[in-house]
Amino acid sequence: MAENKIKRIGILTSGGDAPGMNAAVRSLVRSGIHAGFEMYGIYRGYKGLLDGEISPLGTRDVAEILHIGGTLLMTARSKEFMEKAGQKKAKEMMNAYGLDALVVVGGDGSFRGALALSELGVPVIGIPATIDNDVASSEYSIGFDTAMNTALEAIDKIRDTSSSHERCSVIEVMGRNAGHIAFGVGVSCGAEVILIPEVKYDLDKDVYKVILEGRNIGKRHYIVVVAEGAGSAIDLSKKIEDFTGIETRPTVLGYLQRGGSPTVRDRIMASLMGMKAIECLSKGKSGRLIVVKNGILKDIDIAKGIAEKKTIDAKELEKTKALF
Ligand code: F6P
Repeated sequence: MAENKIKRIGILTSGGDAPGMNAAVRSLVRSGIHAGFEMYGIYRGYKGLLDGEISPLGTRDVAEILHIGGTLLMTARSKEFMEKAGQKKAKEMMNAYGLDALVVVGGDGSFRGALALSELGVPVIGIPATIDNDVASSEYSIGFDTAMNTALEAIDKIRDTSSSHERCSVIEVMGRNAGHIAFGVGVSCGAEVILIPEVKYDLDKDVYKVILEGRNIGKRHYIVVVAEGAGSAIDLSKKIEDFTGIETRPTVLGYLQRGGSPTVRDRIMASLMGMKAIECLSKGKSGRLIVVKNGILKDIDIAKGIAEKKTIDAKELEKTKALF
């Protein structure tokens, strides 16, 4: 069997931080060392790669981080890396530090950077981590479960005050252009209305009518969960109150959803995905994304993965109306 040319692996976290990123770094470092690699942390994402913020990571350096939210490797945006010249420089920096491969923990934007490096001949592996769960090629991305649980806990509390005052509450959740958080959280908190960017809605039919019907059947609160990509809680609240006459209050959950200790699911997924990335590199495989497909952890070609599209079927959202 040919000798594996990869000896030293760099790890970076990129894009919005997500709970479980630290668990992924721990898994990569420990399983990498176990497999005989030297592991290096790159601080502040691609920016840190260009600036040479690179240090070795041993098994004890990643102790006590499994349960911590955010990313201890930190994350930053780099305009320089977006350009071809920056990507070439990144490759040179990898050579200068003797890094033979790079593992990128982040979302689709970060993987586009990884693909650019791969096209320059750098062996790369991507691990999906974003609370939005919008990595097109994977059913799951690290951080999604924690973010949904955080949002759910907050909405359960809002519901208490909402019912006491017989009010409508409009809660805006994160997700950028995707509605996965809103859909999951909306179903699990029993929202009367879920609004997501993937499915067009009509204010009269899908919002006002539903709330008024709720009042007619004796509901004491009305929860509207809106994905940030589908509307603003502040605007919607005003419209709902003006049309229905029901007192309505907006809450924007915001960055609260990105923090906190990762849930069991995120710790497991981060640990498994980190191990799978090292398994690929041990077999000399690179240019891969670690993804979940039909519930199974796999590695797929990074260029094909990035080209995939993901959406939420309008019929799936429609079905949840039976829970009203
Ligand atoms: O991608 C994660 C996310 O939290 C999105 O839900 C949100 O739209 C965005 O990042 C916010 O980004 P920033 O940290 O740049 O404000």
